[in-house]
This record gives sequence, C-alpha cells and structure tokens, in this order.
Amino acid sequence: MEKIFLLPDLPFDYNDLEPFMSEETLRIHHDKHHAAYVKEANFILERLDKAREGGLELNLKAELKALAFNAGGAILHSLFWANLAPPGTSKGEPVGSVKMAIEEEFGSFERLKEQLNKTAMSVEGSGWAALVYQKETRRILPMQIEKHDVNLYPAVQILLVLDAFEHAYYLDYKNEKAKFFEAFWNIANWEEVNNRFEKLIQ
Ligand SMILES: [Fe+2]
Repeated sequence: MEKIFLLPDLPFDYNDLEPFMSEETLRIHHDKHHAAYVKEANFILERLDKAREGGLELNLKAELKALAFNAGGAILHSLFWANLAPPGTSKGEPVGSVKMAIEEEFGSFERLKEQLNKTAMSVEGSGWAALVYQKETRRILPMQIEKHDVNLYPAVQILLVLDAFEHAYYLDYKNEKAKFFEAFWNIANWEEVNNRFEKLIQ
C-alpha cells in the first residue's frame, strides 16, 4: 500500500450533478482544488521523511499546520464526492437506519436540513458543514469545520459533508451561497450516508 494520499476518481461523470452542480465547477473543484490538497499533503509527508533522514531542517510548527490543512482537504473532499450522487438517486431523502436515527435526533429531515444549512451559512470564511456520529453519546450531530481542520471534534465519525468554500459554488451561484446549500440536498447520496452509519452502529 502506498503511504500517500490519493486523488480518487469521481463516482459519477462530471455533468451528472447538473443542474445543481455544473460540469465546470466539478472539473475545477476535483481536478484542481482537490488535486492540489492531495499533492501538497504528500509533499509535506515527503519533507517529514527527508527531515527524519537528516537531510532537511523543518519549521515543524508551520509544516504540521499546513499538513492538517491539506490532509484535511484531501480527506474531506474524498468524503464529499462519495456522499454526492446524481439527482434522484435516493429520492432526496435519508434511507434505512440513518433515516430513523435522524428522525429520532432531529424530529424530522426538514429540521436536519435547516440546521445543516445554517451550519454551512455561518462558516466564517472557508469551511464545511458536517453531519457526524459521536460514539460516546450515540448521537448524530451537526459539526462546523473552519478551513479543513478547525472546530473538529476529536474522533467523531463523519456521515456527510457539505463544502462551503467559495470554490464549491461561486461559478454556479455567485454570492448566493444559500442557493447552493439548498441545492445540495438534491444531490446528497443517502445510500452512502446510511452505509457509513450502519458500519458505525454494528
Ligand atoms: Fe472544496
């Protein structure tokens, strides 16, 4: 196994998420932004290896900060693509065990959407809205991630992520990011979210 981050292929075609996410956005987002996080995270890992071999003096504080940002970007984007699907895939609603757990936790799917949209809208600068499972409390909770690595709860399991960086929506929605967050629910892959949840509660 290669000890590096990999850029996964998208599990759908570039135009499959239209009209909610355009081919142009997806090409730039996956092929440029995600690829850059993967490349930079691997570059930092390489520098750490070189430093261990004695060939390089590192500013470890700066390197580790950059590693958290880029590794976070690499991992979050992989989770994001996998929890997207062409419109109509899961009829736009939660399925299976996670559907029941969401109804118990939030009261209804509508309330979850409302909380996640507010989570995404209130990100300061760049970041993510996430739906996570916290094993200690057995609760499904919203989580806001600033940049790729700030405000994360340690050891929570991510069920679903929604990218709130400008690069995720600006070409399609300009400054109207609320419209992108609303549109996201048409391309959320609830089969995948349910699979993630069921693995955690076994
Ligand atoms: Fe992104």
